[in-house]
Amino acid sequence: MWTLPEVAEPVTFVVFGATGDLFARKIIPSLYLLYTEGKLPEVFSVIGFGRAAHTTESFREHVFVQLKHTAPGVSKSVAEPFLGLFEYHRGEFHDSASFKTLGEAIARRDAACQCVTVKSFYLAVPPEQVPILAPHISEVAPKSKKARRIIIEKPFGKDEASARELSDLLHRFFDEKELFRIDHYLAKPALDTLLHARTKHKRYDALLRSEPIADITITLFETLGVEKRGAFYDRIGALRDVGQNHLLEMLALAVMPIPEIDAMHVCRARETFMGALPRLKKAEITAQTLRGQYSGYQSIDGVTEASATETYFRVGFMLEAPPYTGVPVTLQSGKRMREMQKDIVISFHCEHTDSLHIELEPLARIYTKKGDSIDTIAEFIDPEPNIQYANEYASLFMHAWANNMTYFPTEKEVEYQWRFVDPVLEAWGKGAAALHTYPQGWSGTIETWTPQKQSASSA
Ligand code: BG6
Repeated sequence: MWTLPEVAEPVTFVVFGATGDLFARKIIPSLYLLYTEGKLPEVFSVIGFGRAAHTTESFREHVFVQLKHTAPGVSKSVAEPFLGLFEYHRGEFHDSASFKTLGEAIARRDAACQCVTVKSFYLAVPPEQVPILAPHISEVAPKSKKARRIIIEKPFGKDEASARELSDLLHRFFDEKELFRIDHYLAKPALDTLLHARTKHKRYDALLRSEPIADITITLFETLGVEKRGAFYDRIGALRDVGQNHLLEMLALAVMPIPEIDAMHVCRARETFMGALPRLKKAEITAQTLRGQYSGYQSIDGVTEASATETYFRVGFMLEAPPYTGVPVTLQSGKRMREMQKDIVISFHCEHTDSLHIELEPLARIYTKKGDSIDTIAEFIDPEPNIQYANEYASLFMHAWANNMTYFPTEKEVEYQWRFVDPVLEAWGKGAAALHTYPQGWSGTIETWTPQKQSASSA
């Protein structure tokens, strides 16, 4: 199941950072996917805001060149109507005049369609630029006018305090219900299938409820490395990059109770789940976490000399809230691993089922296992398995335009995620877990290791 809502309202989509890497890698392929599937809103246009000296014509050419990376076979004449959706607006984030003219460009769009479009702003910019942009956006699309949607990229801060600061800043200009924070894992076709399987296929939840869980392992292993993102990645490391967000969301979607699939129930369920995550003690962090860095990482452009940033981690802990009190969980992720592995495995102490598997990629499927026999609960054919981010962003944009919050983390959810991760990062900063070097292509196999609850005196 891959849910794409219908978007009946007309949309003007303003993208900041329109000549940057995120625009090329995430936005163009996903918009093109929506276009080829006939899913884009009937009245729709993109205004690319950037510093580069483009005209609309040369910008469309730029979009076409970028599009060819993911759709090599597409000819100019076929792409023409798609490219016609794009307009370029040259401007500087600091410059009020650039936003005055942006406001005029948006107004021209509304005049052209003789309607009032939903103004949707996508912030593909470094976090420090958000405070500069927020007041300008709020002026360009004042609250009293038609709906505004602010779609904002992670990272949402670097710890709980800075995440709250960012939300406070955004709330000075926008309501929480206008903020669509992106965690693209929430829109992964496999996790969307899981969300629906949780309410549709009673077997999944029946198994969770009736059988004692032995342990849960969440894995995100990539064969890719850090490549061109050295300077950015080196400041954050793997736990902040994918642990605080994607892995915790995978865990929540796999086990949290889901009464109904609507924004209110799903968001509240995720918040409650994140809010009940344990705060790990120093002794637990020392005994149950591992950090690694792949060999060769330090020679990547932008990575600091003798960098101590982890590209691999493993964090073990026990859930503390009913009905899973005492269930051990392992979160693990690594770059430059031997094989791609993105899955959730829930093992049971049970006679008729050994384990429940949710595989995200390359095939999306949910199944149980007993010995060698596999019983499929749900399977899903990925519409665009070969282009990283295309499905997810296509879905996220559509849900944001349709004003459906189900697939977006809330302010509190993000803060709770940091509350879980912060003690680990702090303890690591004080040397609680040595940084190991691992070879590129490492399998990630380590001896079996079950998280234990440490006594209070060892805190
Ligand atoms: C991003 C991280 O959020 O997720 C990347 O910043 C990571 O480092 C990516 O590679 C993984 O996403 P996916 O969809 O390819 O599993």
